[in-house]
Amino acid sequence: MSENQLDKKSQAWSALFSEPMSDLVQRYTASVGFDQRLWRADIDGSLAHAEMLAARGIIGTEDFRAIERGMAQIREEIESGRFQWKLELEDVHLNIEARLTQLVGDAGKRLHTGRSRNDQVATDMRLWLRGEIDLIGALLIELQKALLALAEQNVDVILPGFTHLQVAQPVSFGHHMLAYVEMFARDGQRMGEVRQRVNCLPLGAAALAGTSYPLDRERVARTLGMVDAQGRACVCQNSLDAVSDRDFAIEFAAAAALAMVHISRLSEELVLWMSQSFGFIEIADRFCTGSSIMPQKKNPDVPELARGKAGRVAGHLMGLMMLMKGQPLAYNKDNQEDKEPVFDTVDTLKDTLRIFAEMIGGITIKPEAMERAALRGYATATDLADYLVKKGLPFRDAHETVARAVKAAIGQQADLAELPLQTLQAFNPRIEADVLDALTLRGSLDARKVLGGTAPEQVRAQIARHRARLG
Ligand code: ARG
Repeated sequence: MSENQLDKKSQAWSALFSEPMSDLVQRYTASVGFDQRLWRADIDGSLAHAEMLAARGIIGTEDFRAIERGMAQIREEIESGRFQWKLELEDVHLNIEARLTQLVGDAGKRLHTGRSRNDQVATDMRLWLRGEIDLIGALLIELQKALLALAEQNVDVILPGFTHLQVAQPVSFGHHMLAYVEMFARDGQRMGEVRQRVNCLPLGAAALAGTSYPLDRERVARTLGMVDAQGRACVCQNSLDAVSDRDFAIEFAAAAALAMVHISRLSEELVLWMSQSFGFIEIADRFCTGSSIMPQKKNPDVPELARGKAGRVAGHLMGLMMLMKGQPLAYNKDNQEDKEPVFDTVDTLKDTLRIFAEMIGGITIKPEAMERAALRGYATATDLADYLVKKGLPFRDAHETVARAVKAAIGQQADLAELPLQTLQAFNPRIEADVLDALTLRGSLDARKVLGGTAPEQVRAQIARHRARLG
């Protein structure tokens, strides 16, 4: 190993080391291969720190100007792909700092005053994640809008509602879509709540104990937009906690995993509905794939993959919890392992939301097939029971009576509405000609006017509420 290489390998930690790091250890410990995507946050954090150091007279204004100049050039180099990332400089922080020093000399060496990579990396992760949460929030809104549009076009389409995957009661297809709008609305809220706790400043905690330099942490927080709804600076209040906990990342992964679980439920329905046995929908060809052996196949690969990716994101949540579990205070290198799961969670969730928002717009509904399935499943049996209750029969007796009527209808291969009135009256004499209103799918739907129910007028009211909310 030449003098020069040895120098590079040990330059970050002084003269204490008497031999260079082994190549294997260097590769094992380096994170620059994946953490370089934090570069914008790293530069923003450094500039906010340097500005404050200058304002407090800890470094000179000239030094700050030089740091600004150097960072502008580094920004440009990274954006244009000319920046040379070096494995021997371990991570994004040391890479940028080394380049800065190359560009502006001693001013670059002053940047790390009152700071450690421990509070630096925690700050970078929070800044980066905050931006991604905002993008995810916007994508969740796009998806809700797509579902809302599909709901709006299909309020009067009747779908068999299932429990236990057995036909239960008819529901409006629009109502069914709005159930997912509710889920994704809560996912958006959850992301917003996680954001508040992500948006808090670790810088100033230094390595673990705080620093003896008279830093103005609140000033840095304000510069970086780490403020609460009232505009108050949000600063981590305990230095040990600030550098070591990754609960903000875990919370984010939990919210992301839950959103993916919702996606996977929708996926499962789309896959079922597209199968020949259901035949309720078609998904536009551009979202499907064929089979290399069976020429007749059109496979719903996108929802299937999304269902699988939900498992992957839930795995990241578990991984992050196990990463944190059992770590003594304060910072440990274990925490470098937070990056890949968080990055992959963000990438997977964003891609999935984006593709779903598009795919929902490419779904064709087959109302006749849905209606046929609802009729085949005696979806209005509850309505007949409710009809008898309104005529004075106790509900339990009505339930029993209708069960017998359904059995007879199955024997005759007919829907309840198709049985002659006399046949129905044989089950209970209180049944009159007006029973037909209750036995039709539409009559069943219209009756469920309760708040949150599936009656089309209710569904339209809910759509209006969501429209007002989503803009
Ligand atoms: N690359 C490191 C990480 O991701 C940065 C912090 C390193 N701190 C240290 N004391 N080695 O966590």
